Amino acid sequence: MSIVDTAKSAAQGVVQGVMSKLVPLAPDSWIPGGTPDPLIRHQHGLIGTEVSRLDGPLKVRGAARFAAEVPLDNLTYAALVFSTIARGRIATLDTTAAEAAPGVVLVMTHRNAPQMNAPALFGTSATACGASNLPVMQDDSIHWNGQPVALVLAETQDQADHAASLIAVGYAAEPSVTAFADAKAKGKERGLFFGQPLENIVGDAEAALAKAPHSIDRTYRTPRHAHNAIEPHAATIAWDGDTLLLHDTTQMVSSEAATVADIFGIAADQVRVISPYVGGGFGAKGLWDHQILGAAAARVAGRPVRIALSREGVYRIVGGRTLTEQRVALGAEPDGRFTALIHDGTVAMTPHNNMPEPFILGTRSGYAADSFKLSVDTVTMNMMANTFMRAPGESVGTFALESAIDELADELGIDPIALRIRNEPTKDPLSGLPFSSRHLVAAWRAGAERFGWDARPAVPGSRREGEWLVGFGCAAATYPYYRMPGAAARITLTRDGEALIEVAAHEMGMGTTTTTAMVAAERLGLPIERITVRYGDSIIPGTIMAGGSQQTAAIGAAVIAAHRALVAELLKLAGNDSPLAGLSPDEVGSEDGGLTRIDDATRRESYASILGRAQRDTVVVAEQASPPLEQMHWSMHSYGAMFCEARVNAVTGETRIARFLGSFDTGRILNHKTARSQFRGGIIMGLGMALMEETQFDERNGRIMNPSLAEYHLPVHADVPDIDVIWTDIADPHTPMGAHGIGEIGITGVAAAVANAVHNATGRRVRDLPITLDKLL
Ligand code: MOS
Repeated sequence: MSIVDTAKSAAQGVVQGVMSKLVPLAPDSWIPGGTPDPLIRHQHGLIGTEVSRLDGPLKVRGAARFAAEVPLDNLTYAALVFSTIARGRIATLDTTAAEAAPGVVLVMTHRNAPQMNAPALFGTSATACGASNLPVMQDDSIHWNGQPVALVLAETQDQADHAASLIAVGYAAEPSVTAFADAKAKGKERGLFFGQPLENIVGDAEAALAKAPHSIDRTYRTPRHAHNAIEPHAATIAWDGDTLLLHDTTQMVSSEAATVADIFGIAADQVRVISPYVGGGFGAKGLWDHQILGAAAARVAGRPVRIALSREGVYRIVGGRTLTEQRVALGAEPDGRFTALIHDGTVAMTPHNNMPEPFILGTRSGYAADSFKLSVDTVTMNMMANTFMRAPGESVGTFALESAIDELADELGIDPIALRIRNEPTKDPLSGLPFSSRHLVAAWRAGAERFGWDARPAVPGSRREGEWLVGFGCAAATYPYYRMPGAAARITLTRDGEALIEVAAHEMGMGTTTTTAMVAAERLGLPIERITVRYGDSIIPGTIMAGGSQQTAAIGAAVIAAHRALVAELLKLAGNDSPLAGLSPDEVGSEDGGLTRIDDATRRESYASILGRAQRDTVVVAEQASPPLEQMHWSMHSYGAMFCEARVNAVTGETRIARFLGSFDTGRILNHKTARSQFRGGIIMGLGMALMEETQFDERNGRIMNPSLAEYHLPVHADVPDIDVIWTDIADPHTPMGAHGIGEIGITGVAAAVANAVHNATGRRVRDLPITLDKLL
């Protein structure tokens, strides 16, 4: 809830401040009275169709230029040296050999790095985006095993890498906490997520559990996960006087520009971040030490810098998902009704970050129960700052909760889908708010039918085909609907009916720019070929984050607001000689290259005619999205029902996923093609979490032991089965465009569906991820 709370308070700030001229929309005015929004009545039929990604041809041709490919004159190349202790001081530092090595332009350490402010932590202000608020290379202190201790700039990457290998660093180690058990022994604190305690108490859940006729009480564990986007982090950086240009790969151009400006003590408009293509993000493409160090080195050397992390470099300095230890205890009546729902446990953090993997978020609105006890405790370790990773909280939280529900279903002898439906809430069980649009039961029923759930082996371990034990499992998926404040859109409409849509948004490969073009085409009544989307540049007005599965809603609300401003502006230009004369903007929408009275299509005038009579070549409008007030009135979420058929080899313990179905209820689906791909991508990432992914963290010294794709296992094509995806496609009347976010929900529920299927196949219950073969033999 805390992102929502942050959004609410920021929204109020926006209403009072920057957007004082904006009249807040009534929260339900997206689709008044629950009927289709009259302003998008005149559809070309784009929404809800399959539109191929507009950036696709550029990418397959290699014409899309990523951050590490931007050519600049006089460029230097950076290499980093990473600390090999978890905590302490740099005792000796010899850079002479590196300085004398061929091609070296600069060796930068804490001795000669410029003075810089510490990055502001994400969530501490509307524009802060640091994952850690540690100062970067400002003294000799070491805070994690992998921290950058030196940077080399050279004429080529090979020269920089070679010189970096010549730097000799001696350390004076200080006591550190690198074992989870030691961290727990030192004491826990209640986790804070964006300033809000991760705790919900309703009634006396422990007493209710003790009294319950049926109950289970289990502990589940999930390991650290590393970010492995296909494009490793990279930036190409240049100063022009006191102005800084970063070609970066980022999910937050505007807030990154603001935070970097603060670090260097310059004005926000002196930093420009450009990020047209992002080769995958998942929460990690934010601000880390490398951009800060690259910019510092560029300033010291007086030359542009390319800093491209190796895959190992990403493991050393870019945080991932932290480990969790979760208890789920459920008390139930014989008919399955929950009397107690307990979900608590512990995660590890660093002293300098703000991401306590909030595994109770999905539990807060998942099920009805008489009593709740939900909390997340944190302990502190000397390690890299962990961060957001696709569905932070829900992805690992649903593993525990949805495994536990399966265990209870076994105990009760009730079908696991029936048990879930029995506990379906009619309103948000904790906030008491009505759900804006929740059709999870419909998703369960459609999914069960499509998957053939009836054929599930009734007795675990009872179906064997040759060496293979076969089982079915299911789990609920959930992720909140978010819309963050601050989004804006600028529309430039030309007399010949072309429109440029500018949003400070991001294309990470999920199809955002395509969906933006679709939404703009429908709003403006223009063919999609006439729409150009400009994005990924901090000089575009507004702040939009590609995160929280909220980018499309934020863009849509901004485009809707800008279109309303465009209609008003065009009506002014049309004047009294127009068939539209005397109409107010509320009575007018766009259709077929012009404005039309909503309830009388005979009163219309084309854009060309309006601009021609006004002797204008273009009209430009910019507007902020309405504040995201919908989140204050409803409990808003995406939902899914996940189904898995697992086959476990009785001889080797190997698990293969035979098929997987995601049955989603996520509002209206805007682009069926990119949506299916998003859902599938999330499910594949969930399969990795279920069966393979684990950052091996050496508890003796805090060193990550498997910093490469050779040793950190991800699903490859041969691991990915036929993935079927269906959806209810029921529009939420309370969101822009009727849509919910779909970027993250796909990963949620997957690990539990796999674990539950493995149990059904083998009778073995694995409660610690990943489900590797040693746990099944
Ligand atoms: Mo996502 S973890 O909000 O990029």
